[in-house]
Amino acid sequence: MKVTVVGAGNVGATVANVLATKNFCSEVVLIDIKEGVSEGKAMDIMQTAHMLNFDTTVTGVTNDYAATAGSQVVVITSGIPRKPGMSREDLIGTNAKIVKSVMDQALKYSPDAIFIIISNPMDAMTYLSLKDSKLPRNRVIGQGGMLDSSRFRYFLSKALQKAGYPATPTDIDGMVIGGHSDKTMVPLTSIATYKGIPVKQLLTDEQLTEAVESTKVGGATLTKLLGTSAWYAPGAAAAAMVEAIALDAKKLIPCCVYLDGEYGEKDLCIGVPVLLGKDGMEKIVEYKLEGDEKAKFDESVKAARDTNSKLGDALK
Ligand code: 2OP
Repeated sequence: MKVTVVGAGNVGATVANVLATKNFCSEVVLIDIKEGVSEGKAMDIMQTAHMLNFDTTVTGVTNDYAATAGSQVVVITSGIPRKPGMSREDLIGTNAKIVKSVMDQALKYSPDAIFIIISNPMDAMTYLSLKDSKLPRNRVIGQGGMLDSSRFRYFLSKALQKAGYPATPTDIDGMVIGGHSDKTMVPLTSIATYKGIPVKQLLTDEQLTEAVESTKVGGATLTKLLGTSAWYAPGAAAAAMVEAIALDAKKLIPCCVYLDGEYGEKDLCIGVPVLLGKDGMEKIVEYKLEGDEKAKFDESVKAARDTNSKLGDALK
């Protein structure tokens, strides 16, 4: 499998690095507009091949889309990251232009590819990429839910540790749906479990709320600490999505996809549970959201529609 990663910043380079170490791709092409950066990062990654025991070839190119030709998956990380104090939505004007142009160029050389969008504000960038490319909805998928769910598992494991249970993130099952947004993402506490035990039975409401709130601002907390947005977990999340597609694993992963009636919504890209396999988004898994989780999802939908309305001319 050939995979292209557009953008050799922190997130893009991490996607390429994690893909290489997982060793299931024949080739990963890293492309960026900044002269030499992709080449340098690709060479650095390749110099770990012997130590980390992988055979994937990682190639770096500057703006040469011909080198990406025939990719089965294209991961788009291009655009500016947020700085402390900024919301993801603040990036919309700049990133809409960049993502649109990247999508056009990448699609020209890889007309059959499945596209994974990471650029922020991710839900709006996924919607824009889908509308602009006119691709079927199974082939344009946003990465947010995988990352947010992984953060949720981390914060739940911390809460459980405080409550006296020796939990690690891999002991936890948990999912975040809705928009990839500080205010409106929806960590689903009702179905989160610790080795099969509902966490609601082990944690107080206060402990649960703290884990939920920490998850929601997980990206902002890291942006404040790092001075720019995070990369290890966002990169690993996208690589896990590529892996599910490459291996036709049909994994249940929350992803940002276009809804056409599912969850009662239409004409919107937002995070819901989906099965990821060789055709990209192969099925939206619908289940009945209850109580305040349904209300929170509805709020998230409203916020995502509001952000989409700011795409303005980019959508034309
Ligand atoms: C994050 O939440 C970059 O949006 C990404 O860290």
